Amino acid sequence: MTRVRTAVLISGRGSNMAALVEAAKAPDYPAEIVLVISNRPEAGGLGIAAEHGIATEAIDHTEFDSRAAFEARVQEALDRHDIALVCLAGFMRILTEEFIARWNNAMINIHPSLLPAFKGLDTHQRVLDAGVRITGCSVHVVRPEMDTGPVIAQAAVPVVSDDDARTLAARVLEAEHRLYAYALELFASGRARVSGERIVIEDEPGAASALFSPPFPRPDQ
Ligand code: GRF
Repeated sequence: MTRVRTAVLISGRGSNMAALVEAAKAPDYPAEIVLVISNRPEAGGLGIAAEHGIATEAIDHTEFDSRAAFEARVQEALDRHDIALVCLAGFMRILTEEFIARWNNAMINIHPSLLPAFKGLDTHQRVLDAGVRITGCSVHVVRPEMDTGPVIAQAAVPVVSDDDARTLAARVLEAEHRLYAYALELFASGRARVSGERIVIEDEPGAASALFSPPFPRPDQ
């Protein structure tokens, strides 16, 4: 089996990147994580990747005169490692249309909400302020507009009455780690493919049952 040579772009902690690295240790996983790039040299995720023997590059965006110059350096690293698929995982730089076009249908991202709701930053506080009872996370193919593009997979996560942004973020993050590994598996294997602006899943199992929040019927009844 040829595994898809994959790079992960991060800016910080890198827990989603670490989840992908763990998943890709399975010999039958269709993607191989061969490179981790951070635009912030101090990103904790770089150390985690290096501990796993993965090539890392810190490409400090502040050292470049323009977005295009920064991206040219990123592209050079991706080319040198013969990368075929890019995963954004907490990567906090806006990418140009040109870079996104170069990676059309070959770059995916994770966002901590049920897209298209709650795009952008400060997601969990806005979810709480909106008073919704279910949030979640989404992995999608990257398109030029931020946090848009065909959704590969989503996980729904309940909001509980005494949540604050921190407790909610932690609950969603657990789901993110499982979801990203699953979505990358689907996408790299070709089981999830872009058709029009939707994703079609091959051999899709029947729909899971509804998630109720608060739980219904009550688990203790
Ligand atoms: C995650 O919640 C991700 O969805 C968001 O930023 C966070 C990054 O966390 N875009 P980590 O660096 O993967 O730990």
